[in-house]
This record gives sequence, C-alpha cells and structure tokens, in this order.
Amino acid sequence: MRSSSSASLTRLRYDVVGDIAIIKDISHEIRLHVAQSIMKNRRNLSVVLAKSGPVKGLFRLCTFEFVAGENRTSTLHRENDCLFLIDLAAAHFSPRLVHERRLVAESVSPMEHVLNMFSGVGTFSIEISRKKPVKVYSVDINPEATRLCLINVLLNRVRGRVTAVLADAAQATGILFLCGMNRVLLPLPVKSREYLGTAVSALRMEGIIQYYDFIQVDRGESPTERMFSMVRPLADMYGLALGAARIVKSVAPRRYLVSLELRRSNP
Ligand SMILES: C[S@@+](CC[C@H](N)C(=O)[O-])C[C@H]1O[C@@H](n2cnc3c(N)ncnc32)[C@H](O)[C@@H]1O
Repeated sequence: MRSSSSASLTRLRYDVVGDIAIIKDISHEIRLHVAQSIMKNRRNLSVVLAKSGPVKGLFRLCTFEFVAGENRTSTLHRENDCLFLIDLAAAHFSPRLVHERRLVAESVSPMEHVLNMFSGVGTFSIEISRKKPVKVYSVDINPEATRLCLINVLLNRVRGRVTAVLADAAQATGILFLCGMNRVLLPLPVKSREYLGTAVSALRMEGIIQYYDFIQVDRGESPTERMFSMVRPLADMYGLALGAARIVKSVAPRRYLVSLELRRSNP
C-alpha cells in the first residue's frame, strides 16, 4: 500500500502491482482526476484500475474497471528478489503479502519437500525455491494461474525446483502427495479448515502446516490469541501442536488475515 505525496492526495492509499496502481472506494466523478494525479506523481506507473468488487468465486478473483493509462490488467511485478508475470483479471494476486511470503521462504529448511495447495501464480513457491534448495509442488485449480506459474518458474530460473500442477488440491494430494511432504502451505483462508485434513494427509511423520485464516476480534482482543483458541480443537483432533502466529494484514475494521504454524512431531 502506497501513499501519494501530492497535497491533494495525501490521504489516498492504493496498491501497486508492477506498473499498475489499484484504487478503490473512490467516486466515479473524481476517479479520473485521482488516477491522473497518481500517474503524474509516479512516472513509473502506466495503468490505473479501480477495484470494483470483493474477492470471490473458486478462483478468488476481483473485478477491476479501467480508469486511466494503458488498458490492460497484466504486468511484471518485482517482489523479494523475484519477478512475477501477473494478470489481475485472470489469477489472484495480492501485493500485501510481500512480508509474509519472505518470512515463510526464510523459515523453510534446505532439502524440504513443500506442497503449496493454493499456489496462484506461484509466488510463495518460487520465493521459497529461490531462497533454499527445496522441491515445491505448486497446485492450483485455475488454468490461467497455473499457466502464469509455469511462466514465472522460467522467469525466475527455478525449473526442476518448482512443479506447477493444475488440479484440485484435495484430488492431487490424494493421488500424488500422501505422506511425502515436510511442509504444506494453505494460503486460501476461506478454505483452510475444510482442507486441513488433506494437508495433514500430505505430511510426513514430522512436518509443518502453514495455516491461514481470517480472524474477527472484539475491541482490545488479540487476533493471534483468537486464532489460537479457534484452531486449538482442530489441531488437537489432528495431533498438531500450535506454533508461531502473526498478523499478515488487516482486511477490515478489527478483521485480520492471520498466519499460524501447525507442527506434527514424531511421538
Ligand atoms: C488466495 S489465492 C492464492 C494466492 C497465492 N498463494 C499468492 O500468495 O499469490 C487462492 C488460490 O487457490 C486456488 N484454489 C481455489 N480452490 C482450489 C482447489 N480446490 N484446489 C486448488 N486450488 C484452488 C484459486 O484458484 C486461487 O488461485
């Protein structure tokens, strides 16, 4: 999330993906003016889009309206020393997970086998494989996300380290990954609970699940403590220990995306 330095735009916040600025909640009357001001202030931006709806559907896509500059939704985005081809209209991507992706990549150990059950265009998978000598299986059900992931694997020279798989994560896990993984990523918060059992089935005797969920808190309540109390019964059921939790981002008033490590240890 960036803030413009111009006086009239000091309070305007917008996301930047490659050379695309994404504005939201700005009325039709002023948004062309706002877009032109953004492009005037940031000469490296070539497109301004307006987010016109929530993330939704199986592929977790947003709708965007073209506002100014070049009329396109694809761009090259640099993040944590990686380069990604993104198409905002075709496959989910959020630039706000930049720190989370770095932290996860740093936490992986060399030689691990990692399953990314909801890979999108391959961001977590590629960042992990660029940092550590590992094998990552990058599954997504969206053909366009998988196509972009394949291109991103080539762009980042991690062919052989990251395998892109076009499939439903549960089906692919049942056929290809049972008991084979040191680590499983579940970066689809709306489905984490549903897919936790599948993630457990992919783990070796010892391993880690990187679990994500949206957490709504009361005033003064800690989102990570709330995450612990919500997930504890589920973790107990699957014989998992609760590890470190952190807030990834705020998504609405008192609503957060929270990340949690769940550990399976050999008794
Ligand atoms: C929130 S996005 C992932 C974003 C990605 N991890 C990142 O950080 O860029 C969730 C992804 O899960 C995919 N997805 C949804 N249901 C799925 C399923 N049953 N199996 C595999 N992928 C699925 C969607 O197509 C979408 O690309």
